[in-house]
Amino acid sequence: MDKKKVVYSGIQPTGCLTLGNYIGAVSNWLTMQDEYDCLFSIADLHALTVRQVPADFRKTALRFFAQYLAMGLDPKKSILYFQSHVPQHAELTWILNCFTYVGEASRMTQFKDKSQKHLDNVNMGLMDYPVLMAADILLYQSDLVPVGGDQKQHLELTRDIAMRFNNLYSPTFVVPEAYIPKQGAKICSLADPTAKMSKSDPDANATISIIDSPEEIINKIKRAVTDSEPHVAYSEDKPGISNLLTIFSAVTGRGIDSLADEYRDKGYAAFKSAVGEAVVEKLRPVRAEFERLSADKDYLMSVAREGAERAQRIAYKTLAKVYRKVGLVER
Ligand code: TYM
Repeated sequence: MDKKKVVYSGIQPTGCLTLGNYIGAVSNWLTMQDEYDCLFSIADLHALTVRQVPADFRKTALRFFAQYLAMGLDPKKSILYFQSHVPQHAELTWILNCFTYVGEASRMTQFKDKSQKHLDNVNMGLMDYPVLMAADILLYQSDLVPVGGDQKQHLELTRDIAMRFNNLYSPTFVVPEAYIPKQGAKICSLADPTAKMSKSDPDANATISIIDSPEEIINKIKRAVTDSEPHVAYSEDKPGISNLLTIFSAVTGRGIDSLADEYRDKGYAAFKSAVGEAVVEKLRPVRAEFERLSADKDYLMSVAREGAERAQRIAYKTLAKVYRKVGLVER
């Protein structure tokens, strides 16, 4: 039998897990976990590139882990763990640093954006962020990496680093491919539909958290910025309505064209209320399961412990191979 493909992805535990993360990334993870060998981490080391309040950060990371499970990620099917619980991530990052050029890292759009946003804290970690991400992916010999469109450049760098290493030594890493959905790769802010919906957006009305209450969801969508022309249609000059159509389609599984046809002449108010209801229905079970799991920290930690042990066994093999190839004396 052919070996199953390995799938890897992660999310940084900052702010609230959003509908953008769910549609752009997690909804694909859910279908992949039935077919592939999947690993999904809470990328807590990545989140340290921006200042965190320790006690809040710890709580947020655990809440994200509970939300992974609540969304349907299943520890019987996938390896679910905290990145910081598997030391090989940081170790491989060091080695890969020595195969990544400063020029490449400084060209990353996200590095440039974040440096601008945090002028008082342009730390080395911010620049090294994509190398840690490459280590995450390459440690597990991953074939596929399901992410939203904003991670495409980081995936290209990961591939370049892997190929460079393979060419210098001998085939060591699987060269991974990004899996970016055709639709939903960029869910936009409800307050500014030309910008990405971002979990660190300080404007609570700009994002929908996957555990927002039904009232919050309905209200936020009602207030979503749109244009003043009355027809519901998917087009470049209607970014707000197009964004809502993309969300509507993602949560119902119906095509954008059919939804646009159905709501074309019904007016924005009726359209927005239908989108709101559909999002509420999609997230209702997630919210309920999150409430239930949050009360059971022991269970969450037992899943995390088992996930980290399984991940370490795989990661250790890759790291040992890399150490050998670069010529380090064996332990
Ligand atoms: P992060 O935490 O910013 O986002 C997590 C995932 O959600 C996707 N995403 C979106 N998709 C559609 N519309 C949006 N508005 C939207 N916002 C976010 C992201 O593309 C991502 O897939 N560096 C990564 C986390 C990471 C990782 C990895 C990913 C760490 N190690 C290894 C893949 C493989 C990040 O910051 O994602």
